[in-house]
Amino acid sequence: MVLIKIKGLSIHYYTLSGIVHAVDNVSFDIVEGEWISVVGESGCGKSTLAYSIIDLVPPPGRIVSGEILFNGKNLVKLSREEMRMIRGKDIGMVFQDPMTSLDPLRRVGDQVAEVFIEHRVLSSWRDAREKARELLRKVGLPEDRASYYPHQLSGGQRQRIAIAIAMALQPKLLIADEPTTALDVIVQDTIMDLMEGFKKQGTSILFITHDLALAAERSDRIAVMYAGKLVELGSVDQVIDNPAHPYTVALLKSVPDLWGGKKIESIPGYPPDLRDPPRGCRFHPRCPFARDICRKEGPETIEVEQGHIASCHLLRRR
Ligand SMILES: Nc1ncnc2c1ncn2[C@@H]1O[C@H](COP(=O)(O)OP(=O)(O)OP(=O)(O)O)[C@@H](O)[C@H]1O
Ligand SMILES: [Mg+2]
Repeated sequence: MVLIKIKGLSIHYYTLSGIVHAVDNVSFDIVEGEWISVVGESGCGKSTLAYSIIDLVPPPGRIVSGEILFNGKNLVKLSREEMRMIRGKDIGMVFQDPMTSLDPLRRVGDQVAEVFIEHRVLSSWRDAREKARELLRKVGLPEDRASYYPHQLSGGQRQRIAIAIAMALQPKLLIADEPTTALDVIVQDTIMDLMEGFKKQGTSILFITHDLALAAERSDRIAVMYAGKLVELGSVDQVIDNPAHPYTVALLKSVPDLWGGKKIESIPGYPPDLRDPPRGCRFHPRCPFARDICRKEGPETIEVEQGHIASCHLLRRR
């Protein structure tokens, strides 16, 4: 069952130096109970896409077209108040740096408890604090941490608090934007385990990462973004073992071990300036297979095999 349907979504940042085309005509579904990862180089629009789902695209950013359908509602059209109720209740979010979402001056237990009060699930702070302690146990923290302030916790512990807040009301979707990038590998693993545990209980995970190897380890499906475009989407096996887009191939070659320990090759060139993206296929200036048509026309999205789509002119000629 589809949980969220994103259709033709485009997001621009209106900066003084020009309009940044950060997300361009992106469409895909998030299925109930799946772990879907969005991968791509820095600046390709992953965070912008993730934030748009809960109306947190920062100014001067704006959704300029498209729909985000959830429970029969178009989230793009909701009022601020309606969105505030969905955020936290139906859709939870964790960020790369939990310090940005935690209040440095309040005990973490109270910050978890507040979710129950704010969404009127509980009316007494005493009950809410009890629930908060229960949640801390669930995310692997001793209950006494409830009385700590964020700065008294380690980065990994703070991320557990952020996850406790995001998961307090058992949302249907957890959006996690690079939640483990700032953590060491062992802590990173425990945080990923924690999210996987929630997935097993039925929560869908939208995981944003530039780390393709990490995505490959945990995901059901992988979405590859390049310069604001969704260029490929499929199951992990489809995307990793049988990549269809030259960018995905280049990305795979740049990751140690994913492709049988061959020599690591970095992708030549740089992602484009999204104030003035290349005409035609946005990847053409870096693509070893680029032809005339790639410089002129944007490629359509093609279903390469069932459930596996990619946008590349080369695929049409197969
Ligand atoms: N607040 C902003 N104002 C103007 N432009 C922005 C803003 N935030 C992002 N952008 C631009 O939008 C594009 C997409 O950025 P975004 O942060 O979504 O990328 P990302 O894939 O999440 O990158 P990273 O891996 O570095 O987090 C980039 O070109 C970026 O410069
Ligand atoms: Mg980002």
